[in-house]
Amino acid sequence: MKITMVGTGYVGLVTGTCFAEIGHQVLCVDNDARKIDILRKRRIPIYEEDLEDLVIRNIDAERLHFTTSIREGTEFAEVIFIAVGTPPAYHGEPNLSYVEQVGRQVAAHMTDYRLLVEKSTVPVNTGIQLKRTISKYLREKVDFDVASNPEFLREGSAVHDAFNPDRIVIGVESERATRLLREIYEPIIARSGCEFLVMNIPSAELTKHASNSFLATKISFINAVSRVCELAGADIEQVAHGMGLDPRIGSSFLRAGVGYGGSCFP
Ligand SMILES: NC(=O)c1ccc[n+]([C@@H]2O[C@H](COP(=O)([O-])OP(=O)(O)OC[C@H]3O[C@@H](n4cnc5c(N)ncnc54)[C@H](O)[C@@H]3O)[C@@H](O)[C@H]2O)c1
Repeated sequence: MKITMVGTGYVGLVTGTCFAEIGHQVLCVDNDARKIDILRKRRIPIYEEDLEDLVIRNIDAERLHFTTSIREGTEFAEVIFIAVGTPPAYHGEPNLSYVEQVGRQVAAHMTDYRLLVEKSTVPVNTGIQLKRTISKYLREKVDFDVASNPEFLREGSAVHDAFNPDRIVIGVESERATRLLREIYEPIIARSGCEFLVMNIPSAELTKHASNSFLATKISFINAVSRVCELAGADIEQVAHGMGLDPRIGSSFLRAGVGYGGSCFP
């Protein structure tokens, strides 16, 4: 299938390359001309294990392409993923201007049905806002769908995570969008055996935030327990081990240390 990935940063490059590796034709778009230039020269602007080899292999196989043109990206594929940044704004809320900008630009070039998929981490109900933006900026009457497909990969094991997800979550409003996304992910579902969860858009958007918040809570909690341990003369490693063996609690994310952070925690 043909897929456009708008935003060729960490998530866009890893996901786009993995889509190419499983056989899709992928066009990665970025408005950073320097980044696209580097990629066209078969080098990668970030380090991630196995990524460079995959990028080179898929460029050589003519399944992975790069451009700065959003018009080209809009014309290229029926399915357009949005994986642009959502950095923290002044009061800590995510800056959605890049997502909105892509919505406006794609709408302005759309002449046929397109499915726009939120891959960026966005607040709940951004899908509704994106639909409004697209409707407003369409130059002619064209059918379109918006979907949510939150990303759960971790920097450092991003390629592995992309091929072996714990689950694939999609938020959709139409059978057509479900069918297109299932077709894209079918090879990954087949090889990893992971669940493909279909829900409405706000549920998918919230699944990402609820998961992140829960993991952040675990980290904050074990750090609080660690302070109690220091005062009580207890050993946090032993306490965490004792807690983690309870399957209701689980041992992951129970290591006291630095707090949490990352681009999904604006
Ligand atoms: N990095 C992670 O580990 C991770 C994991 C899960 C989800 N996410 C989420 O995914 C999203 C992307 O994160 P990232 O780490 O890949 O960010 P990034 O900063 O590495 O990449 C974003 C890219 O989007 C490009 N861009 C911005 N506006 C554009 C436009 N209008 N047209 C074309 N390109 C544009 C930028 O030039 C940049 O290359 C964020 O919402 C982030 O929270 C990140």
